[in-house]
Amino acid sequence: MRIDIVTIFPAFFDVLDVSLIGKARESGVLDLRVHDLREHTHDRHRTVDDTPYGGGAGMVMKPEPWGEALDEILVDDAVLVVPTPSGEVFTQATARELAGEEHLVFACGRYEGIDQRVLDHYAARGRVRLVSIGDYVLNGGEVASMAMIEAIGRLIPGVVGNPESLVEESHELGMLEYPIYTKPAEWRGLTVPDVLLSGHHAKIAEWRRAQALERTRERRPDLLDERDR
Ligand code: ADE
Repeated sequence: MRIDIVTIFPAFFDVLDVSLIGKARESGVLDLRVHDLREHTHDRHRTVDDTPYGGGAGMVMKPEPWGEALDEILVDDAVLVVPTPSGEVFTQATARELAGEEHLVFACGRYEGIDQRVLDHYAARGRVRLVSIGDYVLNGGEVASMAMIEAIGRLIPGVVGNPESLVEESHELGMLEYPIYTKPAEWRGLTVPDVLLSGHHAKIAEWRRAQALERTRERRPDLLDERDR
């Protein structure tokens, strides 16, 4: 998969050199490139923002640098992903959908956001997804892009060593994950539930399912069907 990121803060993405995503880049499974939006400005101050038409607080990202950058990068059938608190909510299902794409381009806005015409222009010519990582406001799209790239990247075959570990985790089965334990069997007087030491696979599976359901009821009832709540 190829991922391009356009930002005024390329340094944010230095951390994508480490851990599983870093390994995926090294092995060639993931071709990830970071672009500085200011390379597409042509004035002495490398200006990327201006005041909003109609007035109001804050600054808006100018369309010209974005147009120049995206014309160059948004080639083939790439999906343009624009992180914004006004977008659809990014979920595990969104991550799965985007993991099936060949090429994603992340456009990281700052300030109050990007001039609407940029989004309209590319939406008329290709696929654009406006996505929010949650109901809170960040200072820009960089941290949101990073979260999405990690969630998407780990679903690309070959990125996570043992694909089985992807199956039972939170959100993949529509529920939160059951509690997990490792050795030692006793730590600070706290023990591991007996069933997990029993070796009885059917009982273990049943216990985990019940625990997952109980947790989900308590913490995230919105994930459950009406009848399971
Ligand atoms: N940019 C600012 N806040 C955001 C959010 N919650 N999700 C995605 N992008 C953002």
